[in-house]
Amino acid sequence: MSEQRQQLEKVRDDGLAEIAAASDAAALEAVRVKYLGRKGAVQAAFEKLPTLPKEERPAFGALANQAREALTAALNDRKAAFEAGARKSGPKLDLTLPGRGVPVGRPHPITQIIDEVVRIFGRMGFAVADGPDIETEYYNFDALNTPAEHPARDIQDTFYLDTPRDPRGGAVLLRTQTSPGQIRVMEKQQPPVRVVIPGRCYRRDEIDATHHVNFHQFEGLYVDRNVSVANLKGDCEFFFKQLLGPETKVRFRPHFFPFTEPSYEIDLNSPMLRSRGKEWLEIAGCGMVHPRVFEAVGYDTEQWTGYAFGMGVDRLAMILYGIDDIRLLFENDLRFLRQF
Ligand code: DAH
Repeated sequence: MSEQRQQLEKVRDDGLAEIAAASDAAALEAVRVKYLGRKGAVQAAFEKLPTLPKEERPAFGALANQAREALTAALNDRKAAFEAGARKSGPKLDLTLPGRGVPVGRPHPITQIIDEVVRIFGRMGFAVADGPDIETEYYNFDALNTPAEHPARDIQDTFYLDTPRDPRGGAVLLRTQTSPGQIRVMEKQQPPVRVVIPGRCYRRDEIDATHHVNFHQFEGLYVDRNVSVANLKGDCEFFFKQLLGPETKVRFRPHFFPFTEPSYEIDLNSPMLRSRGKEWLEIAGCGMVHPRVFEAVGYDTEQWTGYAFGMGVDRLAMILYGIDDIRLLFENDLRFLRQF
């Protein structure tokens, strides 16, 4: 091997050793200039090329190229290692900083109440069912003994959908009550029936602190032999005491609903209400299932008797949590919802 080639190999090996020994980025840069710079050792080797005997030039040129590549690769590796190191040795872990909280969600107050209602009735042997928000006129009114011209429809004006029409011929609407759920349950099963049906309801209403186009109800239905008003009263009273405390009082006032006979409205009186300066609060409608409703679902009216009720969940939420404006329940402002 020629002397020149030996020298060039030494340049390469020295360069690699110095790159490995460089202790920081600045030292590395000095090594780069020394070997790969415009006046560096590798460039000097290339410049020597024309002075060599012709037959030696190819091998020497190849060696010079190889030396430049080896040094460049080693430099780049070392540079990357310094950069990674710089990143790692950046700001140190500060164990005194407070931890980052993981925000924990929770059910909406309405959902919390519905869950509790379902639990209480569950202990009393009631199953839970649901029906669609988009209902047909048939389920929402006709099957509940409320035919087209019935005045009871006037106070339950709602939102009608253009299409599709119900194959039975009636309109399609947003349900005004959870009561159509009764029909859907009874169409699917024979007595005895014991079920609660919670859900969202809609009415065309002026929105104010106590009215909304959106609200929630839950329906209760109990069908068996020899069901009486005593069962209705006893079960409702038990339920309200479970939900609102043993000092809760319940009052039944005669009323009218097309799908029950006799019918009542239920008023509540609880320490919570009294502490807010209220006496009785109307909370539910109820009664003994009307024979026409049983006929609509094909139940034998001679054999079966039943009670039904429908309660306002939003009102219960307002009593339980002391909320004075129903709109808060639908605005989903987290500052409000986080309180529950
Ligand atoms: N659906 C009635 C309403 O929204 C409430 C109601 C009354 C439900 C009597 C019933 C019932 O199941 O038996 O005004």
